[in-house]
Amino acid sequence: MRAVKDILLYYCPRIDTALNEILAIPPSEELNYLYESMKYSVMAGGKRLRPILSLLSYLSLNKKEEEKYIPLLCSLELAHTYSLIHDDLPSMDNDDLRRGKATNHKVFGEGNAILAGDGLLTLAFENIVRSGWKAGLKDRCILNIIICFSEAIGPDGMVGGQSMDLASENKIINDLDVIKSIHLNKTAKFLSAASVIGGLIGDANEEQLEALRKYGEKIGLAFQIIDDILDLIGDEKTIGKPIKSDINKNKATYPSIAGLDESRKLASIEIQQAKQALTLLPGDTGDLVSLADFILERSK
Ligand code: IPE
Ligand code: IPE
Ligand code: MG
Ligand code: MG
Ligand code: MG
Repeated sequence: MRAVKDILLYYCPRIDTALNEILAIPPSEELNYLYESMKYSVMAGGKRLRPILSLLSYLSLNKKEEEKYIPLLCSLELAHTYSLIHDDLPSMDNDDLRRGKATNHKVFGEGNAILAGDGLLTLAFENIVRSGWKAGLKDRCILNIIICFSEAIGPDGMVGGQSMDLASENKIINDLDVIKSIHLNKTAKFLSAASVIGGLIGDANEEQLEALRKYGEKIGLAFQIIDDILDLIGDEKTIGKPIKSDINKNKATYPSIAGLDESRKLASIEIQQAKQALTLLPGDTGDLVSLADFILERSK
């Protein structure tokens, strides 16, 4: 079992190097601005949680040589960064700070920020196929990754959750099931897919994939509950994004419905259940336990 600090220290620079390579060379000079804007948001930092979650899930199947799959798993960061750029747009959360820097639309303009997001999302799919082939994955495995990924971030996943999130603004919502469904869709399905994709790369069987799906979904729910809490009581410098953003937009969040203490309790129940799901995995799941604990304790 590694401490999460060591896990992040080990993988983040490797993921950053691979991301830099993917975005290094614009196909033509006219595209310098677009590429600059995509790189700006991708390379602004971030915890790289989604690719790391995939790598640790893969390792939990008793597999080795996980670094070979880092280029493919960069697609999770490309798509995640697209979701952040669009999430910050004036027509969505209208935020000015992301990953400790001015948001993409503040620097490159709104139209270009939309295109930077579109570019990253499409590139994510192209990169899954190209990097998958390079890493020697079978076409069938690559297709399974793509279907899992598309379901998680599309209209029945992240995009759908973002739509529900927008619709929740300025509404009086008292029902925890409503907010749970928003969080499941906008955040947890993506994290769950990251975990399952690690399983698909590692040739997991159905039972193991289900364990990874469940683990990812539970830590994903906890992750968004803690995100809501940090929006209220976090430190802006540490989290690198504006605090009180949800309250300013009258968003439904866990703390707005259940209060801070109860929300933290609910997050910790999800983390407990996530850890229980790990018993069905054949390898060392210590790193996944560390990651689950980190999600609860994180300050950024
Ligand atoms: C922020 O995700 C958006 C949510 C789903 C809450 P992260 O907290 O993983 O953002 P980065 O990648 O570290 O910037
Ligand atoms: C959005 O949730 C999560 C995404 C799908 C991008 P938030 O709007 O709470 O994320 P932050 O707080 O801006 O990172
Ligand atoms: Mg949002
Ligand atoms: Mg936001
Ligand atoms: Mg938030």
